[in-house]
Amino acid sequence: MAKSIMITGASSGIGRSLAYEMAGRGYSLALAARRLDELRTVQKDIGRAYPSVKVEVCRLDVTEYDTISPALQGLAESLEGLDIVFANAGIGLGEKIGAGEFTSARRTIETNLIGAMATVDAAVAYFLQQGSGHIVGASSVAAFRGTPRNSSYSASKAGLACYLETLRAEAYHKKIDVTVLYPGYIDTPLNRMLRSRPFLISVEKGAALMADMIERKVRSSTVPVMPWCLLAPILKILPTRMIAGF
Ligand SMILES: NC(=O)c1ccc[n+]([C@@H]2O[C@H](COP(=O)([O-])OP(=O)(O)OC[C@H]3O[C@@H](n4cnc5c(N)ncnc54)[C@H](OP(=O)(O)O)[C@@H]3O)[C@@H](O)[C@H]2O)c1
Repeated sequence: MAKSIMITGASSGIGRSLAYEMAGRGYSLALAARRLDELRTVQKDIGRAYPSVKVEVCRLDVTEYDTISPALQGLAESLEGLDIVFANAGIGLGEKIGAGEFTSARRTIETNLIGAMATVDAAVAYFLQQGSGHIVGASSVAAFRGTPRNSSYSASKAGLACYLETLRAEAYHKKIDVTVLYPGYIDTPLNRMLRSRPFLISVEKGAALMADMIERKVRSSTVPVMPWCLLAPILKILPTRMIAGF
């Protein structure tokens, strides 16, 4: 039977592109996001391009935490099992601390951190029952250093990475693999408003690199590997006066 992957945030950007990439590699797909119409378009497109690939779609808001487990169970039932769950859904609102923008900061944490934790929690419960599974999380190079207008986004991505490191230790004696991806700038609607996007890569390239890393079950990696794996330790020690100018 084909391997299967559930992707949250599959209506746009990385999640959407990864759906096409994994379909091309023969995976069955469980696609979730709030915009069901976008998911149905992806489902139809993939159906045309890869008629033998099974694609299930489901409206899911990852901030409606109690709905995640039933959605995941339903998708798993339709696909007769789930091998991989990618907690990918995320937002980036770019608010400033103390500027009356706390609502945006809260929404970012509720979506990127708590929503991803709730997704992972539901997936791990399912994998423990099933006897195996693979969790993938979308962190970010923003997790390496908080920069201006990125406070809640960086905090959410550092928090998710830490959460997944803990899962790896908890699941050490179980057949549960954990992959933490730290993308750099990948061309999607999430970051098109930014003035500068250093080392930008296309979303297709990003999805292909991520698919390779997922299939190899890497524990953690920047995406692309270079130059971000070299920049990560430098980012951590850059003097604050340099960070302040970002
Ligand atoms: N692009 C980059 O350079 C980059 C770099 C590092 C990390 N990342 C991370 O990669 C992930 C994907 O980002 P992207 O660049 O592909 O952005 P995107 O094009 O804006 O896509 C974000 C996806 O998340 C979904 N989403 C947002 N809020 C949601 C919610 N409450 N419930 C369910 N789904 C929700 C959106 O779908 P709906 O609106 O239909 O719900 C959409 O499918 C994010 O976690 C992001 O932080 C991206």
